[in-house]
Amino acid sequence: MRNFLITGGAGFIGSNFVRYLLAHYPDYRVIVYDKLTYAGNLTNLADVSHDPRYAFVRGDICDANLVEQTICDYAIDTIVNFAAETHVDRSILNPGAFIQTDVVGTYVLLEAARKHRIERYHQISTDEVYGHIPPGRYATETDPVAPRSPYAASKAGADLLVLAYWTTYGLPVTITRGSNNIGPYQYPEKVVPLFVTNALEGKPLPVYGDGRQMRDYQWVGDHCEAIDLVLHRGQPGEIYNIGSGQEIENLTMVHILLDELGAPTSLIQHVEDRPGHDRRYALDISKIRSLGWEPRHDCEAAIRRTVRWYRENEWWWRPIKEGEFREYYEKMYGNRRKLVIGN
Ligand code: NAD
Ligand code: DAU
Repeated sequence: MRNFLITGGAGFIGSNFVRYLLAHYPDYRVIVYDKLTYAGNLTNLADVSHDPRYAFVRGDICDANLVEQTICDYAIDTIVNFAAETHVDRSILNPGAFIQTDVVGTYVLLEAARKHRIERYHQISTDEVYGHIPPGRYATETDPVAPRSPYAASKAGADLLVLAYWTTYGLPVTITRGSNNIGPYQYPEKVVPLFVTNALEGKPLPVYGDGRQMRDYQWVGDHCEAIDLVLHRGQPGEIYNIGSGQEIENLTMVHILLDELGAPTSLIQHVEDRPGHDRRYALDISKIRSLGWEPRHDCEAAIRRTVRWYRENEWWWRPIKEGEFREYYEKMYGNRRKLVIGN
């Protein structure tokens, strides 16, 4: 592994992973391939953009010709696919974009990887493919997929394709399924950056339904370390869950966030729930632990560290909230019925 193609590398987790790779491996070359959708942002990579080991190609993963050209131009031997449409609420508004990028785009990358004999194809997947996990249970890698949103279904479809390329063609693939990531450079449509930035602006925090849904909020840097481990020590054909191994209610997350900011709980506003909202995600992370990885942050530490980053980096998120985001926010939240629920 020397020449990495990082698709979706201008997004949240991808840009953190690019920075991680360049910092830890002096002899690796990192080529970011990204369409720069509303979620892609070259500012996320500004601090590495002059590194001679880094290059950027603007392109769509559905564009087979450009993908293959890039693989040849940079002698790519490893592909890590972060590129995706990623927001569940947007997948409810417009599922087509998710099928196109998350399923068809993955197929295009797999075909290119097969043709050019790529040494490792790594797919970044999500705990959402397991669907709602009943209390007391933890999803293991051998569980069947049971996705319930268009986003989760498109990611599950991609995972099945990736596994089929291992079984059918022997393409050396690995898959990681991560829980909710938080940290620097996350687009403020996702709940934690949305709520921190709303609170900093003195705006309400729109909690869906009763707010008692459970999520495993993990620090993005921990996720990057685990992906690195799977790339170097994981077995081809295998799936690895990655999370903090802990899950908390959304309302608990909100209270930690407000406490870190010193902001009032009166900002909490319960609103109409997300259709088909998965109540609980919970991962069994014993398999990645057995490779020697441990998360460095629990959910609370990850939330507090994230809050501090957004408080200190208004230059990054303020312009984003002025642009496309405003229209989206109005469409998504403008007509949402307010609910009266005790906190
Ligand atoms: P993001 O939305 O911040 O970034 C996605 C990136 O992909 C953007 O830079 C965007 O421009 C790019 N992109 C989108 N469509 C593309 C296309 N057709 N061709 C090329 N580039 C395209 O996403 P993220 O939160 O960083 O998630 C990255 C990956 O991790 C995704 O595959 C997602 O499903 C997965 N994941 C995310 C989380 C999370 O909590 N954020 C958790 C588990 C897994
Ligand atoms: O679990 C991994 C997944 O985490 C990733 O695969 C997805 O790409 C990522 O978007 C994320 O999905 P979620 O739907 O869990 O994340 P989101 O930040 O949208 O919501 C987290 C929880 O907060 C969820 O229970 C819904 C709730 N929520 C979200 C928003 C945006 C609210 O209560 N209010 C909100 O305004």
